[in-house]
Amino acid sequence: MGLIEWATSPWGQTFPIHAAWGLIWVAVIVGFFFMIVHGLYVAIVAPTKKFAQKPTAAEAMSIPERVPRHSLTARLFHWIMALSMLALLVTAFLPKVGIQFDWVTYHWIAGLLLTVSILFHIFHSSFVLDFWSIWPDKTDIGDAINRLRSFFGKPAPAPSRFAKYPLENKLYHLSVMVAGLAVIGTGLFMMKRVDSLFTPRNPYLFSDMTWGMMYVLHGLAGVGFIALILIHVYMGVRPEKLPITKSMIFGWMSRDFYLEEHDPKRWEVSPATKKQGLAPSDGD
Ligand code: HEM
Repeated sequence: MGLIEWATSPWGQTFPIHAAWGLIWVAVIVGFFFMIVHGLYVAIVAPTKKFAQKPTAAEAMSIPERVPRHSLTARLFHWIMALSMLALLVTAFLPKVGIQFDWVTYHWIAGLLLTVSILFHIFHSSFVLDFWSIWPDKTDIGDAINRLRSFFGKPAPAPSRFAKYPLENKLYHLSVMVAGLAVIGTGLFMMKRVDSLFTPRNPYLFSDMTWGMMYVLHGLAGVGFIALILIHVYMGVRPEKLPITKSMIFGWMSRDFYLEEHDPKRWEVSPATKKQGLAPSDGD
């Protein structure tokens, strides 16, 4: 099975038309395979988490009992984005696996909701939240190298406690961002192929080849989301991650969890902190 479905025009020209929909099942299998391997790794192989520093009494004194993590605005963004994403996946892929319904209108409406919510997120994270907290920094990279070394039995110092987001979350955000920009960028042009309230239909805007490549990119990034979202939901319901998931509902995490996993020097949350510990990916 290839990645792309091709078609031939009456003039003998071959061009791409879609992603190969067999990839839907590949993405489902990848998602479940990840869950099984990760679940077994955590249950059997993974050493107990050890950080270079332990929480000190002085730190505990300076931290409120409830550490603010996601503002109401950021939580609303997260759940609106999640809802539109689920609607997009359902409307896009159920018809492809044999459940037929008139999906296109629901799909582009959910697509526009996602687009608006992401535009808001870009603005909010750039001007209100701490923009840099979701990008890997030098400490993350150094710690990742040390974690790998000790995984292979080599001597390495224990890693520091996390900043607001562990490296894994930052890399996940990066993958979702790339796939998200791909579906939004292509989806907005694809609006020209359907009847909508917003733009008159104009299927001749691009050549068959350009449209085809656009549909392929939209489809491949969309299929990627199946695996990404399965993994995200699995992580969200793992027992050790529940405090993080709860913080996306209630907005805060406990002082104990914060001190165990987060370094107050890397993620400041004193009441005096202007930004109240909120970061751009408060939507994640
Ligand atoms: C997770 C996000 C998304 C997924 C999984 C997804 C998936 C898909 C899939 C699989 C198709 C069929 C493509 C084909 O036939 O080759 C499609 C079509 C389409 N999508 Fe999306 N999409 C997403 C986001 C968006 C967004 C953000 C928009 C709009 C801003 C959008 C607008 C459209 C349009 C207009 C079509 C074309 C329908 C047609 O030509 O009949 N999509 N999408």
